[in-house]
Amino acid sequence: MLRLSLDKARPFYRDGEWTLFEDQLKLAVKTLDEGTGAGNDFIGWRHQPSTIDSALVKDIEQTAASLRELADVFIVVGIGGSYLGARAVIDALNEPLRSLGEVKREGIPTIVYAGHHLSGRELLAVESLIDRYDVCLNVISKSGTTTEPAIAFRRLKAKIEEKYGVEGSVERIVVTTDKARGALRTLATERGYKSFVVPDDIGGRYSVLTAVGLLPIAVAGIDINKLIAGAKAAEEAYQNDDLATNDCAQYVFARNVFLRRGYDIEVLVNYEPGLHYLSEWWKQLFGESEGKNGRGLYPASMDFTTDLHSLGQYVQDGRRILFETVIAIAEDEVEVSIPEEETDLDGLNYLAGKDMAFVNERAMTATQLAHVDGGVPNLRLILDRLDAENLGWLLYFFMRACGISGYLNAVNPFDQPGVEDYKKNMFALLGKPGFEDLKAELEARL
Ligand code: PA5
Repeated sequence: MLRLSLDKARPFYRDGEWTLFEDQLKLAVKTLDEGTGAGNDFIGWRHQPSTIDSALVKDIEQTAASLRELADVFIVVGIGGSYLGARAVIDALNEPLRSLGEVKREGIPTIVYAGHHLSGRELLAVESLIDRYDVCLNVISKSGTTTEPAIAFRRLKAKIEEKYGVEGSVERIVVTTDKARGALRTLATERGYKSFVVPDDIGGRYSVLTAVGLLPIAVAGIDINKLIAGAKAAEEAYQNDDLATNDCAQYVFARNVFLRRGYDIEVLVNYEPGLHYLSEWWKQLFGESEGKNGRGLYPASMDFTTDLHSLGQYVQDGRRILFETVIAIAEDEVEVSIPEEETDLDGLNYLAGKDMAFVNERAMTATQLAHVDGGVPNLRLILDRLDAENLGWLLYFFMRACGISGYLNAVNPFDQPGVEDYKKNMFALLGKPGFEDLKAELEARL
């Protein structure tokens, strides 16, 4: 399903480096698998694909089917790990531009996202959809108190209630939150909303294969059983001690060799625009997991060939601080050939009859060679196909790699203390009760 190629990375490190890394890597794997490391109460995702309750999967599928019946537009309210996984999978697998023209096509509503920013302008645009279309909404927040989704949900709920009545709104709102704590749980119980639980032992950015990701993905018409099956196959494939042949361990090794050699940035590169949000999910996963205690690779992303016409110059010729991890799709099922033209004014007839997948692949290989020549190490992750199973595998691959890599760098890969700092300042500057002293201190600095 997934293969890692280090052919274009190897020239940038020495042959013996694996031997020097292996013991440390083994220890990091052991720490994760034996649950003895920092944050070990948040490693429930490790066996989640193989242990997920089939009754839960059925419940998610049935709920998704009823929501699809009711909704032309399905609004996903959440931020960070509470929405990025779903958006990554939906954007990767759904037909591009599918909602243009028809809001609901073949029984699948258009999926829109809210609660991941504080722009009133954007929120109003989502609200206006409620005037024009039938909507359902899934609010997702483990804590139930995150400001961005809480504000969006407060307004969207009021608008849905205005349209359908308080009683009529109940079948249109689904809550995904903590099993017992938080404002959303209380509201779900009071109103009788259908609800799902974010498991205690799984943090937001590792939660794509829980109801957090699975419900919106199922509403979008994607087969969640296949997604889970792919992740389960990856769970089995990478659970072994033979790290020299284990692609997940090899990926951790390669990125950490480059980190220690002074490369600051790992760029995740795709050649399919639908993978843009997979990169956003990946950046959150690695950024929140590893960027702490003054350490960690900076996770960046680029969409090629689009960004070859902007950031490509920097990659080729700027400061030598980055390496690339390129996602390649081996088999593109879409056939789009380039037509022949009699006049050949644009000089493209040399490509006539060739498929765009061929051109895209040649562009990828050409770019890789140029970047390697420019001093940019290249890792390649080759997925067999862009489908639910392969994507499930890839998601699990990255989550496991992230857990191991965090331990290798002596950080807790499952907390995010740095995220709290902006929140505290924001609460203080907004005048939230309890933050008076900090408000005075911050205002004195303005
Ligand atoms: O990965 C994480 O834990 C975070 O990105 C959270 O998902 C994000 O902050 C949203 O939190 P919550 O689900 O509590 O609203």
